[in-house]
Amino acid sequence: MLKLTRLSKKFLRGKQNVTVVDDVSFSIEKGEVLGLIGESGCGKSTLAKMILRLIPSSSGQIYFKGEDITHKKTKNLARSIQIVFQDPFSSLNPLLTIEQILKEPTQIHGLPHRVDELLGLVKLSPSLKKRYPHELSGGQRQRVGIARALALKPDLLVCDEPVSSLDIPIQAQILNLLVQLKETLGLTLLFITHDMDVVRYIADKVIVMDQGKIIREYSNLLLCKEELDMEILQRTSPSESLPAYQT
Ligand SMILES: Nc1ncnc2c1ncn2[C@@H]1O[C@H](COP(=O)(O)OP(=O)(O)OP(=O)(O)O)[C@@H](O)[C@H]1O
Ligand SMILES: [Mg+2]
Repeated sequence: MLKLTRLSKKFLRGKQNVTVVDDVSFSIEKGEVLGLIGESGCGKSTLAKMILRLIPSSSGQIYFKGEDITHKKTKNLARSIQIVFQDPFSSLNPLLTIEQILKEPTQIHGLPHRVDELLGLVKLSPSLKKRYPHELSGGQRQRVGIARALALKPDLLVCDEPVSSLDIPIQAQILNLLVQLKETLGLTLLFITHDMDVVRYIADKVIVMDQGKIIREYSNLLLCKEELDMEILQRTSPSESLPAYQT
């Protein structure tokens, strides 16, 4: 479904070129959930933005369903790849109602609106349609962010820390919703987080990023439970961990 080969991103900082994503290669198969984990600042969001073509890559290739999309325009990718951002408050236009927010993508692409259907998918009442983002709870706002990402029926959803800004019980609800949507809609997910418990709950495969590079890949989470637990001990403080999930 998605294949990155030797993808890199350099930013100019002062007079120096700093490599933020360094020679990253991986692939995600259809229907798979790939967890991408790494500490703050290691380049996760930069990688996500390159996949969405929100920023250009410095070198390397991005293939989607076999097509080289490295230089494709974001608008032309929108029906294939979408993103759910960490903070739904800053990613939803505060001047638009929920209905207007959910109509926007289909309007831009000249497609029929799906507002009620989208609200149903993310288990929100249609009565919220006339409200503005600030009139919703954090969890409800993130459900709107997910609904908006689904408006054009994408194949691949990139989730950039979609639950990090939420309270822990709400995190579990949103994770469950994403798992259900993945099953019912046959989505493929790239799930970015710095929380190993979240990744272990949701992902089929995990890659660990450090300072722009992929330093480890776990392709069978059942077989490598002990190694992953070590990774949790080393990388996350207990206060950041989620309670154990039932799988
Ligand atoms: N437009 C930019 N110009 C220059 N440097 C940037 C730019 N965007 C990001 N960076 C730098 O690139 C590095 C990686 O940032 P990025 O946002 O990808 O990290 P991240 O892994 O998503 O972190 P977090 O977990 O905190 O979200 C950081 O050092 C950041 O300061
Ligand atoms: Mg980030």
